[in-house]
Amino acid sequence: MNKNKILVPLSNNSYEVTIKEGLINSVGEELNRIGINKDRKILIVSNEEISNLFGEKILYNFKKYNYHAEIFNIKAGESYKNLASLSDIYNTAFEVGLDRNSLMIALGGGIVGDVTGFAAATWLRGIEYIQIPTTLLSMVDSSVGGKTAVNHPKGKNLIGAFYQPKAVFIDPETLLTLPTKEFKAGMAEVIKYGIIKDRVLFEYLESEKNRDKILNLDNESLIQIINKSIQTKACIVSEDEKENGIRAILNYGHSFGHVIENLCGYGEYLHGEAISIGMKIAGDIAKEKNLWLKEDALRQNNLIESYGLPTKPPKIKKNEVIKILMGDKKVRNGKMRFILPRKIGEVDIFNDIEESQFLKYFD
Ligand code: GLY
Repeated sequence: MNKNKILVPLSNNSYEVTIKEGLINSVGEELNRIGINKDRKILIVSNEEISNLFGEKILYNFKKYNYHAEIFNIKAGESYKNLASLSDIYNTAFEVGLDRNSLMIALGGGIVGDVTGFAAATWLRGIEYIQIPTTLLSMVDSSVGGKTAVNHPKGKNLIGAFYQPKAVFIDPETLLTLPTKEFKAGMAEVIKYGIIKDRVLFEYLESEKNRDKILNLDNESLIQIINKSIQTKACIVSEDEKENGIRAILNYGHSFGHVIENLCGYGEYLHGEAISIGMKIAGDIAKEKNLWLKEDALRQNNLIESYGLPTKPPKIKKNEVIKILMGDKKVRNGKMRFILPRKIGEVDIFNDIEESQFLKYFD
């Protein structure tokens, strides 16, 4: 198995995820390798902090390979994942003359990736784009699978498209500059893969020795967990690209996570922190329904906490919780769908959860 390359096999537009230490210094070389012509205009979309860290390195390497690119920064933060930022990207695309043959590159975390992906999906009815995620969360989740979106005032990710990238380039070294709190939040998604489909990964994460290495950003360990996470994601996405069924299991912990993010204000809890609490609630519901053993629920919660992530729900009102869940895209035909674990490494989709079974976790 090549730990550095993972294919996302799709019926149309399959693509490769490359994971390589130091890749951020050789993006031009990677573009050349995948056959991107030198005459294509390139717009790199990022935010100020990330482009200050990596933009020059990329442009320097581009020169060597004769690629020409402009960098455009959107503002950082969930509140800028909106139509205004999208419109700013379109204006820049027009100014720099992006045509059907041009390429966008998303350089940053999940917000940059989602907005850029949607801009690429819609500019001139769709141009190619590449994801270069620089946060753990975007490496293991949002950069792979083609979900692109911006938020609407009425809800998260309500405007979007499934639009797959041409390639995903991951450099674990970019995590060295990521704030620790954000790194830990990314670990929530890694733990999620262990629970939904990969018991071996779960056990790898449980080992104290491995945990120390991961939290100390040991390169080999990072490549290992990123690779394993993406393999699971690629497998699920290739089976159900547009989330008509099995892909929903990737949303384990996310229904309650979205409620918490929404009601506490985006920013109070990072996405990964909110889904950590969401996984704890889902695990507790599963325990009470005798779907999995209480020992497994405990192992899940201990693992989440051992990576410095929260499991205690904040104080929020029951009627507010219902309102948000009903507005969530995961509601089908008026019924709420929840992903609940059966054992470590296996979850299922349930449509028959009574309100009383989850409202008790709220005020
Ligand atoms: N983040 C969940 C998915 O990509 O389906």
